[in-house]
Amino acid sequence: VRHLLGIKNLTENDIQLILDTAREFKDVINRPIKKVPSLRDITIANVFFENSTRTRLSFELAEKRLSADVINFSASGSSVKKGETLLDTVNNILAMKVDMIVMRHASPGAPHYLSSRINANVVNAGDGTHEHPTQALLDSFSIREKLGDVAGKRIAIIGDILHSRVALSNIFCLQRQGAEVMVCGPTTLIPKYIGALGVTVSHNVREALAWCDVANVLRIQLERQQIKYFPSLREYSLYYGINKKMLDELDRPIVLMHPGPINRGVELTSDAADSHHSIILDQVENGVAVRMAVLYLLAQL
Ligand code: CP
Repeated sequence: VRHLLGIKNLTENDIQLILDTAREFKDVINRPIKKVPSLRDITIANVFFENSTRTRLSFELAEKRLSADVINFSASGSSVKKGETLLDTVNNILAMKVDMIVMRHASPGAPHYLSSRINANVVNAGDGTHEHPTQALLDSFSIREKLGDVAGKRIAIIGDILHSRVALSNIFCLQRQGAEVMVCGPTTLIPKYIGALGVTVSHNVREALAWCDVANVLRIQLERQQIKYFPSLREYSLYYGINKKMLDELDRPIVLMHPGPINRGVELTSDAADSHHSIILDQVENGVAVRMAVLYLLAQL
């Protein structure tokens, strides 16, 4: 049984196969008849132990477009609240003849733990501060769609790198395709291990914007802060917040991305988020095709 637990163990060929397959599915879901029968005999459970809007709805839509049967589980309102373990919860779901588990969990490594103990495909929909592989894949798909290729492009990931699973998956995914990656944020929000990943580090948002072809902006993840953090949201927006004027004044085009949810007025002003530089809603649109590709390919293995 195969899984998608992270980008770290994918080859460049794996990534290209997923993105090429997603390209074909994007054509399919733009037709009047959006469904294909590919996963007609497959049942998928979306098991979410953390909140989500985009990832959860996008997986559900991807599954329905592939004609899979779908069940949705949220930890809130479930017997997890009575003390049932992750493994018992999932084994009970699998007893209902479920073939694939799409899981989001607050603990880094939770899908890896699960994948070695169950006989079903596991797709990581975000595990704590670790990885968010389908987000990185849809981000690369969106860059490829906008700029033609990821190879040779300069991507700046700006914001709370320390608490971000999107950052780590994007670093692996972009580097494997031949992009240059910079991370930018306050020292307190850049992890100490980042130097070992071969990325450039900047603490100056204007320097990052001037350097890059694509700025992928992340929010401050208040829910993951262990201690009262520095900087405050007000300080962060003062020193790292991006507005449309900053983008307009650059001497070359820039593509603005954000995985969502946006904290408007903190990392991005509304005039930047909604500007012609932004492909934020294209990312969301592309998420469905990319997740269709991942589920389809896993079902073939
Ligand atoms: N990008 C992303 O993972 O958004 P959600 O938390 O809403 O799923």
